[in-house]
Order: sequence, then structure tokens, then C-alpha cells
Amino acid sequence: MNVIEVPDADDERLADYVRLRDVNLRKSLEAEHGLFMAEGEKVVRRALRAGYRPRSLLLTERRAAALADVVGTVRAPVYTVAESVAERLVGFDLHRGVLASFQRKPLPGVDEVLAGARRVVVLEDVVDHTNVGAIFRSAAGLGVDAIVLAPRCADPLYRRAVKVSMGAVFTMPYTRLDDWHGGLEGLRERGFALLAMTPAPDSVTLAEAVGDGAGKYALLLGSEGDGLSFRWMDQADVRVRIPMAERDVDSLNVTAAAAIACYELVVNR
Ligand SMILES: C[S@@+](CC[C@H](N)C(=O)[O-])C[C@H]1O[C@@H](n2cnc3c(N)ncnc32)[C@H](O)[C@@H]1O
Repeated sequence: MNVIEVPDADDERLADYVRLRDVNLRKSLEAEHGLFMAEGEKVVRRALRAGYRPRSLLLTERRAAALADVVGTVRAPVYTVAESVAERLVGFDLHRGVLASFQRKPLPGVDEVLAGARRVVVLEDVVDHTNVGAIFRSAAGLGVDAIVLAPRCADPLYRRAVKVSMGAVFTMPYTRLDDWHGGLEGLRERGFALLAMTPAPDSVTLAEAVGDGAGKYALLLGSEGDGLSFRWMDQADVRVRIPMAERDVDSLNVTAAAAIACYELVVNR
């Protein structure tokens, strides 16, 4: 039986789960071991369905039955702990009571991710994990084919991104460019029109830019603070905007802009 009760938060077997709120510690630990965390029953089930290999599962006593149907089928230990042990271990009240540590898979190459794709989202330096997760969720829900990340964009498999995406990070094909400077050129060579999303009033509207939507489009979205870099703005084929009302609001949150743009580009064409 792979279910193991662990009474002590300092037990080495729980090392994958330590201090989930400590971003720096987690980044180095997750990179070192090639792992990521999934939180909540639904998200853990989605990771399993997507074929990620669990390293272990962690259930609080109250939620010990939550995954009863899969516990016997996973080839990994399932640790059960008291609520107080979970709180000491992860650093907050784990009210969902279900966590799992998964092994990452190697990221596919750009060719593989873009094969057959016609609508893609490209994130430059989006730094907030919750924003990345929300964009994956919208893009997946609205039918975008793939997501491409710039080298400095936040990690979609970081716990907060996974959680906010509700597991969309497991099913949406994505990869990361290793060259920020020249990476966009590769998309153009694969036939994508590069649409730089910006609130600038002298840009054209997204609806005008895509017309009847025939063709292959890459929507480029920029960072929360400064938006797209000059380099990417220059490399784009056209700068496009979602028209804004004149209410002294300069721009939309990047997740809102992404959702509206995906709707316009995918659903509304
Ligand atoms: C918070 S905004 C950045 C604002 C920044 N001051 C700028 O001018 O781009 C983050 C990203 O959301 C997208 N965005 C926000 N509002 C937009 C709009 N009205 N039209 C098109 N894209 C928008 C852009 O891609 C932008 O890089």
C-alpha cells in the first residue's frame, strides 16, 4: 500500500513540500529537482490526466479520501498528514488539503509547438505568476493553439500559475524561446503575422488588423509595468490595440487584454 502517514513536518520524505510561499527557496528547489507543485483535487487530477509523473501526493487527514479512486493507481507514495503538520510544512493553511509534487517534462521545441497552429499568444516579460496562469486559462478556454514565452517570462509551472490556470498549463502546448533578441523572427518565418498588443492610441484596432481572420497570427503581450520592449514593438508587423474609453485609464491589465484579444482573434472570427 502506498499510503503513508507522516507525523512530523521535518520528515525528509516531505522535502518537496517545504515553505511553498518562499518564492526564492521554491525556485531553486524546483529547478534543482525538476519538479512542480499542483494544488487542489481538480488540478492534481488534471496533471495526472495530462501524463505528468507524480513524485508524491500529500493529503491532509480531512481530505484523505479525496483521491481515493486514484491513490491505488499512482506509482508514487501518498503521504497523509494532520492539518497542523501541513500548515507547518507549507507555511499556510492548506484548506484544499490536496497537494502533489510532479516531475517536469522537457519543453518541446518551437517547431513542435507551432506545427499546425494558426493562433498563438506570445508573452514577453510577464513577471507575475498569477497573470501567466490566468492568460493560459483564457487562451485554453478560448481556443488558442499554443503559447510561446520569452526567456524572462514567469514560469507557467510555478505553483501560483498552475493554480490560477486551473491546470490549463498542462494541456496548452507551450515552449520558451531561448533567444529574446531574434526569437520573433522564427515566428515570422513560420508564416505568423506578429501583432504587438499596445494601448497606444496611434496603433490600429485589433479588429482592423485581423480583418476576416484568414492567416496565422501571433499576439504579442508585454510586461505588467512597461509593456512590450522597443525591440519587440519594432520587430512586429503591426501594433494593435483594444480601443479604450476615455476615462483616464491608460491600459488594461495584461490578463484582461489577453482574454479580449483571444476572443476577438479566435472566437469572433
Ligand atoms: C498593463 S499593460 C502595460 C502598459 C504599458 N504602459 C504599455 O503602454 O504597454 C500590459 C500589456 O497588456 C496589453 N494591453 C493592455 N491594454 C491594452 C490595450 N488597450 N490594447 C492592447 N493591448 C493592451 C499590452 O500587451 C501590454 O504590454
